Order: sequence, then structure tokens, then C-alpha cells
Amino acid sequence: MTRIVVVGSVNMDLVTQAPRFVGPGETILGDRFLTVPGGKGANQAVAAARLGAEVALVGAIGNDAFGAQLRDGLVSEGIDLSQLTQLDDCGSGTASITVAEGENQIIVVPAANARVTPAQVESAQALISRADAVLVQMEIPLDAVEATLRLGHRLGTPVILNPAPAQQLPTDWLRLARYVTPNQHELAILLGADLAEDFRELMRRAPCPVVLTRGGEGAWYRDAGEPTHQAGFKVSVVDSTGAGDTFNAALAVFLHEGLAAAVRKACLAAALSVTRLGAQGGMPRLAELDRQLSEHSA
Ligand code: RIB
Repeated sequence: MTRIVVVGSVNMDLVTQAPRFVGPGETILGDRFLTVPGGKGANQAVAAARLGAEVALVGAIGNDAFGAQLRDGLVSEGIDLSQLTQLDDCGSGTASITVAEGENQIIVVPAANARVTPAQVESAQALISRADAVLVQMEIPLDAVEATLRLGHRLGTPVILNPAPAQQLPTDWLRLARYVTPNQHELAILLGADLAEDFRELMRRAPCPVVLTRGGEGAWYRDAGEPTHQAGFKVSVVDSTGAGDTFNAALAVFLHEGLAAAVRKACLAAALSVTRLGAQGGMPRLAELDRQLSEHSA
């Protein structure tokens, strides 16, 4: 069984479905409200577990009702929480999400996620040394992200860096990752480039292998040489929240099948994930992914 360690955030998502996005100073009536588990780290952990991996999550939750619900959800997905800290003096992370017009807007308040430390990452050394891959995103402090990249590199465990939300990072950090998985906007910010620059040119300039996500248009990947395209899979979009997380998880889980196969499965898993409401709502299980894959290959 593939072993994955995820280092990242755990949030409660406060999701409002609305006919359109609200402007400054404006009030409108929404269609639906729900409270569902989210956070880029937890989402990636759940997606990887549903795809059949043995998963451990390194992160932090608060001592509040959300924290208890988030922990219960992760336990029910079979995720190893031995490195998930519960802090006494702090709340859990939240994300206020508006879903409208097939898009989303998200405001994250990190709370407990802001207290994940390099020491906590180091204490997951045994898990990381046994893992086939590590996933890390940027909703936790950057020193913990750096510690993950350095530890994975030292132990010879490939680290997939999902640079979301976007921030500029030192170039030498990027070289420590096996793959960096931005969208076009994140790649430009990562490289300190013009946001309008052609993404293929940015991929060529990146100092590390890049797997670039393009939403419904699929993904581009470049290990060495020229960028290669994987087309997206056509679905009806209900909520795109968590699509990137599903993509990253599938990439990590199927990396041992080779990059091209892993990116194809990641595109399909991400497409399936957007067909239901909530970041984790549409994340496919392995059987569903396999079934859809054979239908698309037929
Ligand atoms: O990537 C989607 C996630 O981003 C949401 O679940 C939300 O919690 C934010 O962290």
C-alpha cells in the first residue's frame, strides 16, 4: 500500500452557495449554507486515503467544537492522527467560502494552523522516512514548509510542494521538492514573474520539475525537456473547492506508476471532485476512479 504523509492545514469550511458574488457594502440572499471539513492539508489527506493510500497527517487543530468535528471526520477516513496536535489556547482554522457562478472565493483564518512548527515536522521523521511521498502546502507557517522540504530531501522521500496560497519562496527551497504543483497564477508569483506571462515559458524557467494545474483544461507537466499536456475531463461543475487538493493527492498516490499516468489519474480525480458541494464532498474513492478511468479509456 502506498504510504503518504501530509503536512498542512485543517479548517472548518463555512460554505455559502449564492446566485452571484457579493460586492463591497452589499447584502444579497444566498441559496444554501453548510459547515463541512476542509483545509488544504486535511483535504489532501482525505483524498489520498479515499484513493487507497495509508495516510498520516501532521498539523494542528484548536480546542473547540470545530476541532472535535474535524478530528472525528479524519478518524472516520482512517487517517493516522498521531502527529495532529490539539492546542488548548487557540481555535481551529476556518475558511469562509462563497460558491457562485461555478467559482469560489475563500478567506482563511489560520488560527491553530499558524502554530505548526518545524519541531513538529521533525517529530514526524519516522513517518516521513517510511513514506512513498510527502505532500505540503502553504497554509501553515513557511518555516514548517521549509522543514518539511529539508527533512524529505535528507531522508530521500519525495516531497510534492503545492504552493497554495501563492507566495514567493527562495529558489533553493524549490530545488528540494520532487515536484512543485502550482496553477498559473501561483507559478508566476513563485518565480516573481509577470502574471500575464505565458505559462509554458514560466515552466521552462522554473528551477524544479513542475506539474501545472489548469482547471477544466487539465494539466501540464515538465520533468526535463518540453512541457507536456494532459487534457481535462468534461464534467458539470457544482463546486471547484478542493479540486487542486484532490489533484495533488492523486498525483502523490499514483506517482509510482510514472508521471504521465499519475497526472492523467490526478486530472480525472480532480474532475470528479467538483461534481458535488464541499471540498471533500466529491473526492472519489479508488473504485469510482478506476471505473471512470476504464469508461474514459473505452
Ligand atoms: O483548497 C481548498 C481549501 O482551501 C478549502 O477546503 C479551505 O479550507 C481552504 O483551505
